[in-house]
Amino acid sequence: MPPLPSYKSLQIKIMSVHSITAETAAAATDIAYLSVNNIEVIYDHVILVLKGISLQVPQGKIVALLGANGAGKSTTLKAISTLLRNERGDITKGDITFRGQRVDHLTPNELVKRGLSQVMEGRHCFAHLTVEENLLTGAYTRSLSRSELKAELEKVYHYFPRLRERRNSQAGYTSGGEQQMCAIGRALMAKPSMILLDEPSMGIAPQLVEEIFEIVKSLNMQEKVSFLLAEQNTNVALRYADFGYILENGRVVMEGEAKDLSSNEDVKEFYLGVSGAGRKSFKDMKFYRRRKRWLA
Ligand SMILES: Nc1ncnc2c1ncn2[C@@H]1O[C@H](COP(=O)(O)OP(=O)(O)OP(=O)(O)O)[C@@H](O)[C@H]1O
Ligand SMILES: [Mg+2]
Repeated sequence: MPPLPSYKSLQIKIMSVHSITAETAAAATDIAYLSVNNIEVIYDHVILVLKGISLQVPQGKIVALLGANGAGKSTTLKAISTLLRNERGDITKGDITFRGQRVDHLTPNELVKRGLSQVMEGRHCFAHLTVEENLLTGAYTRSLSRSELKAELEKVYHYFPRLRERRNSQAGYTSGGEQQMCAIGRALMAKPSMILLDEPSMGIAPQLVEEIFEIVKSLNMQEKVSFLLAEQNTNVALRYADFGYILENGRVVMEGEAKDLSSNEDVKEFYLGVSGAGRKSFKDMKFYRRRKRWLA
């Protein structure tokens, strides 16, 4: 029988295994959780809307997809969630992977089961159902017992105390902000590890927008939900996101850490409505446009 290893050698072994595990874990968090690779999207077989979009969402991060009206934000989210097919849209090039596996051929139902849910632009609550009934519909992909369902509801109410207050109100009669919360809460009932959130600030009072983003941040920190959120409201999105992509005309024109984007002079001028140089005269507009074309 070989001699037993000394306590000292065992300790060294354990320490090296520990450091490998720590390194692997650190590397794993950097691996793209969601990866969109050079996708092209065409509606109705002729309208080319996305012209080669690539983006990554690392695990546990909030990534903002920014851009003006019609830039292609919602189309990108719908391409990921496969809801594009309902609108006669097709991914004609590129691919999408989620947790290392191709997902662009799955059904929305299969995607939700894998942990990826979308909250559509415009909230889309069932107006004639109560807030609580809306939330319950979100758990349809899971077979939960009555007590488990109750616990899941409690979790949603913990993050959205306003929904608890309004639980028996018909969703159609609640405010825009409450409907947005209801839509996010319903997505949470499927226990997603990632949520695609489309324009959560749209048509909502600024105070509620802030409240919703605070909740998104705490879901991210405490429940470890990753978010890809599309927003026209660049200001609020960059304050809560870790990373951002700016889309124009179906292409990514800029990307970077949220803090770097918010201090970038071009982003300030074109998307945040502030400029270090103060108010520009009409004469400068030509230069503006030229630079913007260069940006695109
Ligand atoms: N179902 C569709 N059929 C044809 N074209 C569409 C369809 N949906 C969107 N588009 C076009 O695709 C382009 C991108 O639209 P998309 O909704 O993705 O933009 P967006 O960045 O989400 O804009 P917004 O901020 O206004 O929501 C627009 O020019 C739009 O007209
Ligand atoms: Mg949109």
